[in-house]
Amino acid sequence: MSSVAFDTSHENWSGEPDKALQALRPVPRISIQAFCETEAVAHPIERASQDRRMAKAHLKVHMGGIATAIELYQSAATPNLVIIESRDEPKQLIASLKELAEVCDPTSKVIIVGHYNDVWLYRELIRSGISEYVVAPISMADIVSVIANIFVDPHAAPLGRSIAFVGAKGGVGSSTIAHNLAWAMSSLFESEVLVADLDLPFGTANINFDQDPAQGIAEAVFSPERIDEVYLDRLLAQCAERLSLLAAPSTLDRVYDFEAEAFAQVIDTAQRSAPLVVLDVPHLWTSWTRTTLARADEVVITATPELANLRNTKNLVDTLKKLRPNDEAPKLIINQANVPKRPEISAADFSEPLGVTPLAIIPFEPQLFGNAANNGRMLGEMERNHPIVQTFNELAHVLTGRREIKPKKRSGLSALFSRRKK
Ligand SMILES: Nc1ncnc2c1ncn2[C@@H]1O[C@H](COP(=O)(O)OP(=O)(O)OP(=O)(O)O)[C@@H](O)[C@H]1O
Ligand SMILES: [Mg+2]
Repeated sequence: MSSVAFDTSHENWSGEPDKALQALRPVPRISIQAFCETEAVAHPIERASQDRRMAKAHLKVHMGGIATAIELYQSAATPNLVIIESRDEPKQLIASLKELAEVCDPTSKVIIVGHYNDVWLYRELIRSGISEYVVAPISMADIVSVIANIFVDPHAAPLGRSIAFVGAKGGVGSSTIAHNLAWAMSSLFESEVLVADLDLPFGTANINFDQDPAQGIAEAVFSPERIDEVYLDRLLAQCAERLSLLAAPSTLDRVYDFEAEAFAQVIDTAQRSAPLVVLDVPHLWTSWTRTTLARADEVVITATPELANLRNTKNLVDTLKKLRPNDEAPKLIINQANVPKRPEISAADFSEPLGVTPLAIIPFEPQLFGNAANNGRMLGEMERNHPIVQTFNELAHVLTGRREIKPKKRSGLSALFSRRKK
């Protein structure tokens, strides 16, 4: 198993396939869909999916070329990477790609396997944001190398977005919301999600996902020198097809005092390993929680509609705005609203002093939440048609930048390609 078989029937673009392959780091947990027109291209792509460097990626090969892709993505989410084989001549290929762009999420990357060795075409494609253009015939090693070059470059910015969830007060439901949103993101989109439970003594992700892994985040933070994608992998518990968890030990046999940078390495590695990283940050204000919140791509504050929550949310919003002057303000979710007989602050009065409109107001629903928690299930697994589950689905869209629910998507080649020009 350890030796890698090469497709020697095809010429290799790198000249020395084995060396090139051996030097590659594993491809992260990305989803890939290929649309081929010929067996000669589909076959090496199928074989690439079995290469050990591709073990974490999900790769699916369809026949039918670009037309099949356009049709599929009218209604389905686009994966992290789309590979298109096309025998079209250059002008026709560019025209078909414009159609694909209409239905393709702007964050998806695209590789074209063409049949024209044409400099104009190559330049045109790269200029418009296509990640790579390779000319058929291709080998299995070509495909693995091209994918690795796009996703494994150690100098590239990490692939994954991090979303940090924190409560304005203890027990407001921040962790529950983080876990349910992570689950929604992983099941709605063709995208892998990694949840990191940063509440080492009391974390509940293990309970909520019904997991009891022997190792988890403690091993990572207590031996930062060991952390890389391979070590991180061993610490993950698989919660669903595309959802993995870096669980907290949730034990008190040691104390957990951390330096400001304690979680930096593990979070960075997680972001190199999965496209979405959900950070369940405990309700604490320490140097490490402040650093973690300051660095996350997105911060979501959960609060209940009461005065102490409002005061704390105001302090968090103001402080985070100062720490993140070039980022959007933190997002707000009001949770456990409409508790019978409890005097509450209205959403309008709550958001006015903050200058932040809540993304959602989630009602207090003890039976639904209690049943899910006691069974170690997500709300969507218990009652997929419940209005709160629908709210979570919408929040998952908003927080991943897919504001619109399928099949309506941002359109236009420029929208698809502009982000890739860097
Ligand atoms: N909208 C809701 N309605 C009813 N119960 C809820 C709701 N949201 C969360 N809960 C329940 O509230 C309890 C606390 O939730 P959770 O542990 O997620 O809060 P937290 O903010 O992460 O707390 P901690 O400060 O301990 O980290 C859980 O039992 C959860 O099931
Ligand atoms: Mg919590």
